[in-house]
Amino acid sequence: MKIILLGAPGSGKGTQANYISHNYNIPHISTGDMLRKQINQKTKIGEEIKHLISKGKLVPDNILFLLIKSRIKEKDCQNGFLLDGFPRTLSQGIYLKKNNIKIDIVLNFHVPKNILIERIIGRMIHLPSGRLYHNKFKPPKKEGIDDITGEQLTHRKDDNLSSLDYRFLEYKKKTIPLIKFYIREKKIGNLNYYKIEGLNDIKQINNLIKKILQK
Ligand code: AP5
Repeated sequence: MKIILLGAPGSGKGTQANYISHNYNIPHISTGDMLRKQINQKTKIGEEIKHLISKGKLVPDNILFLLIKSRIKEKDCQNGFLLDGFPRTLSQGIYLKKNNIKIDIVLNFHVPKNILIERIIGRMIHLPSGRLYHNKFKPPKKEGIDDITGEQLTHRKDDNLSSLDYRFLEYKKKTIPLIKFYIREKKIGNLNYYKIEGLNDIKQINNLIKKILQK
């Protein structure tokens, strides 16, 4: 099963991706996590993109194509994968189609902007694993500490109001056309597309996704 998660920043893609990946045993491929890893490891790509990510700008397609191409060739992707954060532009969607990477399901998370801001500002992350928390909606057992490893949680550098504004603009300008593309793909029977009401709580959305994936 090949699944794509679409949605604005903070709409819950990463949270639900962790659930799907764990329950359906398919790898969770988050381009945001992959790019942050490049930055943390101070690779050539990381040095090139760190200023873009901190400002909330999109990273150029050629870098994404390179990373995605090599990741989905890995053995664990043979039975499918879950793409979180890729594609997010029309050109990235067309890249998958042109390379005959056949997608089964697109889940598009819809959440109003005022809610997204609260979610992002309260988000905490365990960087080595990508585990996500929220100070109000999904607090760790011990404040500021990862439940599993006992290590410190951090805030993402791009989780601030000025970078968020830019991320929302990028989403409107570049991801909305991609959503329209997938709605057309559904109409011609190339894949299944579902709009998910991301306002519901995390468990309710888990259950809804479970029903969709059982179809
Ligand atoms: P990326 O890391 O993908 O960030 P994003 O798309 O902005 O999405 P987020 O990770 O912020 O949100 P999310 O939807 O995963 O929400 P989450 O589950 O964490 O990308 C970062 C940057 O990398 C981009 O800005 C860009 O520069 C670059 N990049 C990445 N991919 C790229 C691409 N393809 N092309 C070009 N550039 C690219 O939830 C948020 C918070 O809310 C959490 O704290 C969570 O606990 C909480 N929460 C989640 N669901 C609920 C709920 N239902 N109710 C209450 N709280 C909830």
